Amino acid sequence: METLEVLRKRRSVRRFKDIPVEREKIEEIIDCARLAPSANNSQPWEFIVVTDPDKRREIANATDYGKFIAQSPVCVAVFCRDTHFYLEDGCAATENILLAARDLGLGSCWVAGDKKHYSPQIAEILNVPDDYRLVSLIALGYPAAEPVMLAKRSLEEVLHWEKF
Ligand SMILES: Cc1cc2nc3c(=O)[nH]c(=O)nc-3n(C[C@H](O)[C@H](O)[C@H](O)COP(=O)(O)O)c2cc1C
Repeated sequence: METLEVLRKRRSVRRFKDIPVEREKIEEIIDCARLAPSANNSQPWEFIVVTDPDKRREIANATDYGKFIAQSPVCVAVFCRDTHFYLEDGCAATENILLAARDLGLGSCWVAGDKKHYSPQIAEILNVPDDYRLVSLIALGYPAAEPVMLAKRSLEEVLHWEKF
């Protein structure tokens, strides 16, 4: 798929087919994530791929609005070393994951990590050292249904030339 088509067609998917995602696809997605821009090229990220159903259920139960992670074949946890720009860097990598997944015919949904009360619990479940912050959890899998195409603000509304 062309890059712009991927950008335009990506939507959050929260229901997945009960079939595994090929290891090569997961590796390709994480390979795209690691190529994201980062402040001073610091690359503070680590990507934890979780397929184990019990562990996914534990993660899902800890979240507020990510219960569907229990049914997504894959969950990727994006952690970043606690640098000044860890959040921006981790979000750039997260977006790369969503777009790469779409390109490979997979559905995905970003589940909040940073600022959430459950972040330390997720870190503990995944054995992550203290100086790392959870940026996002990403549910991945083959979509069970067409995603809901939520309305987006129009170009005219959001585009400003030269001043606000
Ligand atoms: C920082 C962030 C946190 C999010 N957290 C959640 C979440 O916890 N649970 C969820 O179902 N979706 C979550 N989402 C997905 C948004 O709900 C979704 O992107 C938004 O409704 C727009 O829909 P779209 O992705 O289909 O364009 C999150 C998205 C972002 C960027």
